[in-house]
Amino acid sequence: MTSTLIRGRLLSFHREPQSIDDNAAYAYESDGALLIEDGVIRAAGPYATVKTAAPQDVSEIDHRPHLIMPGFIDTHLHFPQMQVMASYAADLLEWLNTYTFPEECRFVETAHAERIAVRFFDEMVRHGTTTAAAYCSVHKTSADAFFAESLKRGMCMVAGKVMMDRNAPQGLLDTPEMSYDETRAVIADWHGKGRNHVAITPRFAITSTPEQMEVAKSLVREFPNLHVQTHLSENRDEISYTCELYPQAKDYTDVYARYGLLGPKSLFGHCIHLSEREADAMSETGSVAVFCPTSNLFLGSGLFPLRALTRREKPVRVSVASDIGGGTSYSMLKTLDEAYKILQLQGERLNPFDSFYLMTRGNAEALALVDRIGTLQPGSDADLVVLDMAATPAMALRAEVVNSLADELFLLQTMGDDRAVVETYVAGKPSKSVLRAA
Ligand code: GUN
Ligand code: ZN
Repeated sequence: MTSTLIRGRLLSFHREPQSIDDNAAYAYESDGALLIEDGVIRAAGPYATVKTAAPQDVSEIDHRPHLIMPGFIDTHLHFPQMQVMASYAADLLEWLNTYTFPEECRFVETAHAERIAVRFFDEMVRHGTTTAAAYCSVHKTSADAFFAESLKRGMCMVAGKVMMDRNAPQGLLDTPEMSYDETRAVIADWHGKGRNHVAITPRFAITSTPEQMEVAKSLVREFPNLHVQTHLSENRDEISYTCELYPQAKDYTDVYARYGLLGPKSLFGHCIHLSEREADAMSETGSVAVFCPTSNLFLGSGLFPLRALTRREKPVRVSVASDIGGGTSYSMLKTLDEAYKILQLQGERLNPFDSFYLMTRGNAEALALVDRIGTLQPGSDADLVVLDMAATPAMALRAEVVNSLADELFLLQTMGDDRAVVETYVAGKPSKSVLRAA
């Protein structure tokens, strides 16, 4: 068994912070260490204590003065959209039809899917993201390429073959029967292999017929422990088109409710324009509203009402995500920077502890994976990010006057990106430095 001691400043959350002064919400060690064995954190605490308990022959990696945190978690993105990022469009539906659907058609080719999968995981590691909930394309080949690469790298990933059988180019359509058979095949081939989790993934109500939604319902019944992911209430035109397509439903959320898709492992991308009734339905079922700040700004979709959702009598669970390629950065630091600005525009605050909680433990809780990822708790998988607040000349200058942990985190979030990520550990293995060396 190999043991490694990783030394640096440690930060990990116990729970959601109630305010910027809520220092009981997190554990911070100014000279801390993690003892890693077999990809798992065995001990965490002050360096002197952890070192004393470690085996004599332990190898040591010293990251001082950098900050070590649980690896970042991204709860919504599209792996086949790496080459869609930065596409000029008026709004969601134009962007989907003009760029996104044609691009996703290319993932029928195994070689293309495999090439992009390698690049996708490289970007995740470069940006310190160790877990993501990903949409593949409609083609099983894309899910196979995604999960094979994830398995190879030992990463904890949630992903699904997208189900879509209308309102898209022919090359991007399955049928209700195909979506059932192929989702089952993806589950059989990949769920529980390594750290892979398969999600049932009807793209959104516009691209699924009622017959396909019935299939999604059957799959959720058959596999009640799997994640479900889809899109909800992102854009006004999307909402009205959905209501035309499903006239019996009370509203957009009710379309999914009618097919049994709401629940504590269900992730709904966007949720910007929910009514009170819809928010109640989300809350009552424990469903998660996924905030995608860079995407919402880029596509002009709207301002996510974070506080209105979380501070209501029936609170809605929330998480944060990049939504690549509607989103404009792989970086969860940049994602939270934009989240901060969206709250500013609504007269609300997002303090730096809120942000770093969300990127780590908060997103792990949203994925129901907090027993494995999102903290530095002994027993957790050793997925880590090492952050340097002085990574660029401009950051170093600003870092000279940093006088608190909150200040450091806010600097990292506001000015940081992949350059602030010194190292990414995946199940205890240094993975970013390996990319650099390649
Ligand atoms: N709604 C349905 N598909 C998509 C997608 O790929 N991106 C975004 N942002 N919204 C969607
Ligand atoms: Zn999306």
